[in-house]
Amino acid sequence: METTKYIWMDGKFVAWDDAKVHILTHTLHYGMGVFEGIRFYETAKGPAIFRLTDHVNRLFDGAGKTFMKVPFKKADFSNAIVETVRKNSIHSGYIRPILYYGYGKMGLDPTGAPVNASIAVWPWGSYLGAEAVSVMTSSFIRLHPKSTDAGSKICGHYVNSIFASCEAKANGFQEALLLDYNGMCAEGPGENIFFVKNEVLYTPKLGNILSGITRDSVMRIAAKEGIKTIEKDISPKELKQSDEAFFTGTAAEITAIKKIDSTVIGNGSIGKITKKIRVIFLDSVSGKNKEYESWLTYVR
Ligand SMILES: Cc1ncc(COP(=O)(O)O)c(C=O)c1O
Repeated sequence: METTKYIWMDGKFVAWDDAKVHILTHTLHYGMGVFEGIRFYETAKGPAIFRLTDHVNRLFDGAGKTFMKVPFKKADFSNAIVETVRKNSIHSGYIRPILYYGYGKMGLDPTGAPVNASIAVWPWGSYLGAEAVSVMTSSFIRLHPKSTDAGSKICGHYVNSIFASCEAKANGFQEALLLDYNGMCAEGPGENIFFVKNEVLYTPKLGNILSGITRDSVMRIAAKEGIKTIEKDISPKELKQSDEAFFTGTAAEITAIKKIDSTVIGNGSIGKITKKIRVIFLDSVSGKNKEYESWLTYVR
């Protein structure tokens, strides 16, 4: 991976190579921690972080769900994110904040283990590596919402995502689609999913999925463009009969879906509405569309 110079750890900047943890770090063993993925983009006014407040709110809400007492205020943590981007002098990339239970106590009850935090940034281009990807319906289902807090970005959840992802790659697909415990479409390993039918946008309702910030951005853009979005239970059959389909996510941004299992979606490339929303989204994140200026935190 590409690296930068400094990583913020518990209030201090350390050199990239020195950003280390003890092997008995609690979260490393049990997965009870929360993280975020945030992008920042090059704009005419310098780097801008996309929807920083929303990401920090989701991180801290998730920390609350994992019984964590975070030793930082949200505002100070947000400032630390801005400072980490500034100190590393890069124009665009990805930000990975994590709150985790550290070293000092083992056993499943994390009470008494220190709560640690870090923020790393690095350049990261296209996540799925293509404008349109092939998708395999996974044999692994999304975590049951009564087994965990499905709406939080909890480290341990990503075991489920990685299973699905590896299975899809092993079968020659570029990404996976996980169904929920009722057999309805849930989400990708790190993306929400949408489809278009007769110029209306559809996406799975919240409950079994992460409340994606890109998902929310897409629905707001669509509404401004007069495109209706319906959030509901979506069967795999309905998804496969769509005119267009796409993933949304911080890493994946807006990536079209060209094929699901053996079914080609639309004409097998990015659809008209997907393209329109994608252009507005990319203009917004890079400060070219003033309508969505409030989504950006400039790093001057
Ligand atoms: C499981 C999962 N679903 C959806 C998303 C998309 O969320 P966002 O748009 O906030 O990045 C992500 C990425 O954060 C994710 O990990």
